[in-house]
Amino acid sequence: MITVLVAYAGKRGGTREIAEVIGAELRAAGLVVDVRDAGEVGGVTEYGAVVVGSALYYARWRPEAVRLLERNTEALRARPVWLFHSGPCGPGANLARVSLPARVTLLAAAIDAGRTETFGGRLDPALADGVLEKLLARGGRVGDFRDWHRIRSWARDIGRRVRSRVVI
Ligand SMILES: Cc1cc2nc3c(=O)[nH]c(=O)nc-3n(C[C@H](O)[C@H](O)[C@H](O)COP(=O)(O)O)c2cc1C
Repeated sequence: MITVLVAYAGKRGGTREIAEVIGAELRAAGLVVDVRDAGEVGGVTEYGAVVVGSALYYARWRPEAVRLLERNTEALRARPVWLFHSGPCGPGANLARVSLPARVTLLAAAIDAGRTETFGGRLDPALADGVLEKLLARGGRVGDFRDWHRIRSWARDIGRRVRSRVVI
């Protein structure tokens, strides 16, 4: 049985919920799944496939997700890896394709990961704590722009590929 790791990094829980939904779809596809905070992942060698997702803050990935890629580059290269990030809010949030930050682009190339998927994010002023975050969260982009249909369908595709071992 193949075990899949779904590791996430975020600040306000939005990316964790995406990871949980991805995990649920992979389980429904008959896979064994660990959904873990990226900061709590010790290693990846016990997994047959890995999904890593980060929230975008100031065009960067969260450090826990970057460190996971940095510390496990060799092992990740030896297994199928899918990357996603979540961030864009407001009209067109789910049409946006955000490029990976430079450091993560290099890591993704070293790992030989496929194209990164961009999912809309969630901006909730009630959850913002810094002054700047509060200002940002007060703009016209407040709301939940996570498209669960897209997220589920992406996860189902990964499930099919892992099960059939066709990984492109
Ligand atoms: C201070 C701040 C900076 C942000 N910077 C970006 C950004 O550069 N690009 C982007 O697409 N989204 C950005 N976002 C939106 C977040 O990525 C979005 O709210 C995401 O869903 C947060 O995920 P989390 O709940 O897991 O922390 C920013 C949000 C805040 C509050």
